[in-house]
Amino acid sequence: MLDTSSTRSDRHGHASTVAGGSAVASPVYTIGSDAAERDRLRSQSDELHEHTEALLEHVGIQRGWRVAEVACGPRGVLERLAQRVGPTGTVTGLDINPTHVTQAREHVTSLGLGNVSVIEADARQTALPASSFDLVYARFILINIPDPQAVVAEMVRLVRPGGWVACEEADGGAMLCHPPHPAYTRLNTTFRTLYLHDGADIHTGRRLPELLDAAGLLDIGVEARADVPPPGHPRRTVMLDILRAMRSKIIEQRLLHGAELDRLDRDAREHLGDPHTLVMPHLSFMAWGRKPDQPPTA
Ligand SMILES: C[S@@+](CC[C@H](N)C(=O)[O-])C[C@H]1O[C@@H](n2cnc3c(N)ncnc32)[C@H](O)[C@@H]1O
Repeated sequence: MLDTSSTRSDRHGHASTVAGGSAVASPVYTIGSDAAERDRLRSQSDELHEHTEALLEHVGIQRGWRVAEVACGPRGVLERLAQRVGPTGTVTGLDINPTHVTQAREHVTSLGLGNVSVIEADARQTALPASSFDLVYARFILINIPDPQAVVAEMVRLVRPGGWVACEEADGGAMLCHPPHPAYTRLNTTFRTLYLHDGADIHTGRRLPELLDAAGLLDIGVEARADVPPPGHPRRTVMLDILRAMRSKIIEQRLLHGAELDRLDRDAREHLGDPHTLVMPHLSFMAWGRKPDQPPTA
């Protein structure tokens, strides 16, 4: 991990770390992590599997590939990747949160996936060898951090020339709740304020192609999907569930008092529980790009 030899602050007041001569701001991750949030992350892998499969098809994943999943969380898509690369391929998951790493390891062990390993690492500076993967994949990390380009740059460093970088990201520019409800609207404003405060961009989904382009990738493709989960589906309440994981931040930043937050959460959930309410939690973007076979000549 990082050499924490000296620190300083950025514009958001977050300390910076100097490692091996290069300055790396200390990691900011907008969503918190508690048991409920970890459960949410574990179940979202099933909820989003169609998107993931489509993205893996776009990059033409093959048996025998060496794949890395950046910021895999407690489950991510590790088992899906392991199935696709088969026993002759390998999957390396990484996450900065040691609890997520432990849970991801337990998950792959429980499934008997001998070709999957999970390490604790910062996605911006993994210390893994350059050009050592055929595919580097990430989901729902770039939207939650202030420096997504740094993670994309590291993903590009990790992939071999000719290999693929693939990302799935939400875009909160079109979070629909119809008919509107004051509790949902208020919580949506709170959600946006929290992201803004951390320097994270809820419009990251639409920015994926430009992030991949700025990192020097070629043959960039993009697809967006607008899911409208049916009544009772867990993704209807994804914003409310994430806000629960951000409860202490909301109170610390004096955006809402605890009792007010509880009341808004209850009222918004009741509204989203109404089968007549239409919810589009976010747009889902998938983007992919290929690392040039040879470094471009100057
Ligand atoms: C919203 S979760 C998504 C988890 C998983 N990709 C999925 O889709 O289920 C984001 C994950 O990014 C991890 N994370 C945040 N900042 C990170 C960083 N700088 N390096 C590595 N992982 C990071 C968090 O610990 C968390 O597990």
